[in-house]
Amino acid sequence: MLNLDWKPPTLETPRLILRPLEESDAPDIFLYASNPNVTRFTLWEAHETIDDTLAFLGDYPFTRYPNKEPDPVGIILKDDPTRSVIGTVGCFWVSRKDGVMELGYNLAEPYWGRGIIVEAARMLLDFVFREYQVNRVQARVLGGNDASGRVACKLGMNHEGTLRATLLHRGNYVDVHYYALLRGEWADHAVKEADKGC
Ligand SMILES: CC(C)(COP(=O)(O)OP(=O)(O)OC[C@H]1O[C@@H](n2cnc3c(N)ncnc32)[C@H](O)[C@@H]1OP(=O)(O)O)[C@@H](O)C(=O)NCCC(=O)NCCS
Repeated sequence: MLNLDWKPPTLETPRLILRPLEESDAPDIFLYASNPNVTRFTLWEAHETIDDTLAFLGDYPFTRYPNKEPDPVGIILKDDPTRSVIGTVGCFWVSRKDGVMELGYNLAEPYWGRGIIVEAARMLLDFVFREYQVNRVQARVLGGNDASGRVACKLGMNHEGTLRATLLHRGNYVDVHYYALLRGEWADHAVKEADKGC
């Protein structure tokens, strides 16, 4: 049942604030969503104008929040006095009946390589496994996106397999790697330390 008032809660990690997106975040999101290095392996195209960013906000968060899906939420660095959104992380239902969600994430290029998405995604995974009847969270990673595969690995996700040439992406047939984490694995604290052996 739709709940037009529902918004994901604000969550905090040592370095980050995760909070619901607002229309006023559009300029911050446009800054990185218009960068072709960020969108090289995404299923969405680089934003050309701020209207593309506003359309994204309307199509994703503002449609999924009423469905009680935390997808996506904004990532803000606590030590940034401007409190700009530098990326997003989200979980949406692939199949509510089967308890399957999918994790997605994006980060502005200047912040790559600091473990920000792993920190944000761990907090979001804690939230969804606690609050939702979810049994499996999966991530789909396009062939060549090694950085994203590293994130999935550090989250303790298993690489389950690869669908070869399953997607026509900007004129090329590309592989899609499937990663996933099951509720029991997340509950095992050791999984959260998986990056040590990843
Ligand atoms: C994929 C992405 C989310 C990773 O986020 P992150 O917070 O930078 O992740 P990490 O800091 O844990 O680094 C992950 C890997 O990125 C790579 N990486 C790190 N810094 C990098 C840089 N400056 N440039 C390119 N790659 C870099 C490394 O391979 C790293 O693995 P390592 O930690 O084993 O060395 C981020 O690169 C991004 O937003 N990319 C564009 C959007 C995208 O592809 N989203 C995922 C769609 S499935």
